[in-house]
Amino acid sequence: MNPFEVHIPTRIYFGEEKAANFFDRLHDYGTHAFIIIGGGSVKRLGFLEEVTSHLEKRNMEFTLFEGIEPNPHAQTIDKAAALGKENEVDFVLALGGGSVMDASKAIAGLIHDSEKEIWPFVLGEPKHKTMQGALPVATIPTTAATASEVTPHAVISNPGVKGKSPVSYPFFKPSASWLNPAYHTSIPLETTRDGASDILSHVFENYLLGGNDSPPADRYSEGIMQTVIETLPLVEKDPENKALRGQLLWSSTMALNTMQVAGRKLFAFIMHNLEHALSGYNPDLAHGRGLAILYPAYFKWLMENNRAIDRLALLGEKLFSIDSVSQDKAAVEFITRFENWLNENGLYHRLSDVNIPESDFDEIADYAIKVYGGGNPLDAAGPMNKSDIIEVFKKTEEQV
Ligand code: NZQ
Ligand code: ZN
Repeated sequence: MNPFEVHIPTRIYFGEEKAANFFDRLHDYGTHAFIIIGGGSVKRLGFLEEVTSHLEKRNMEFTLFEGIEPNPHAQTIDKAAALGKENEVDFVLALGGGSVMDASKAIAGLIHDSEKEIWPFVLGEPKHKTMQGALPVATIPTTAATASEVTPHAVISNPGVKGKSPVSYPFFKPSASWLNPAYHTSIPLETTRDGASDILSHVFENYLLGGNDSPPADRYSEGIMQTVIETLPLVEKDPENKALRGQLLWSSTMALNTMQVAGRKLFAFIMHNLEHALSGYNPDLAHGRGLAILYPAYFKWLMENNRAIDRLALLGEKLFSIDSVSQDKAAVEFITRFENWLNENGLYHRLSDVNIPESDFDEIADYAIKVYGGGNPLDAAGPMNKSDIIEVFKKTEEQV
């Protein structure tokens, strides 16, 4: 196994019954919470009222910011941080999906550092600034997707420059997160599917490129993939089933808590690099949907370039019990079976289906190389240059 370091400082509370433990814990971070929410679903569904009543019961004050968009905009984050600073909040409480949680981390950083704008802090920004710290962040994830409830990342969009890029610091890792499956039965089917696609990607990415050095990471990752592949169709039939929702939720947290890569060789998250460039270009594209579009095309590109074939074949064996005489055949069979799964679960699309025509591919590939490769080819266990990226985008058009 390769050397690694794991630090998961987030205190995780799972289950509806853990509400009191979570809200009691918030006292450690102060008495004035800055609640951040998205476009209003948590208000409509009564989650916000429940959260504020828990705070009031504990004599805690709160300030509310409403209006974080999916693929959160830098400018909205700046506005929220100014409000939090003015109200002298002690900590940030995110109630929403990955977009709200990511925005909350960025807001916590801006307030702590008395900074006004988040965009100069993102990866790839030429006038890059470094952040010194952040207010404590607590989260209540209302999607099963990003694992932002445990990660050090905040992914920020800037429609003004058609950009989307992360800002990551260890001090962004949430201090406490309450995973309540009861807040998940309302997630629309499409967002549920997109989330499942994102969970899978977090384990797929390094599984494919990271090599064979860590069987524990492999078995851990396969368990998460298997759970998602089996559970999504069940949730589609029974969306209000809290037990199933909980399985997706916990899978999402486990998929990006660093355990999934521990001991393997580390590589860039290629599909994420490409997808962030895509949804930066078209902010209406949900992250998980963009990833789903890329899966088959990227897998085929890997095969054609003689990369990760053994790992694709291994996935075939572990996830779909494919028993084949040759690795090549097993890998091809795996891709077909996985494409079928995407298709059966409403996740099989082309880039042109999400309003990204071929004429835009060149500009998007340029962005991926500039921001995620620092101007150089991406490292996909070997170089992946601009023309390779365009080739992957073009391959998605073969998907019908
Ligand atoms: O805005 P509201 O009204 O809250 O509605 C949201 C939004 O429209 C809705 N929603 C959320 N929870 C709901 C609900 N609707 C009904 N019931 C609920 N319980 O769902 C829509 C999508 O929400 P969003 O937060 O955008 O989705 P997701 O959780 O997939 O987050 C995506 C963002 O996270 C980033 C992505 O790039 C994207 O910007 N990522 C963050 C990562 C991290 N921090 O580590 C890693 C990921 O790879 C990813 O890049
Ligand atoms: Zn992701």
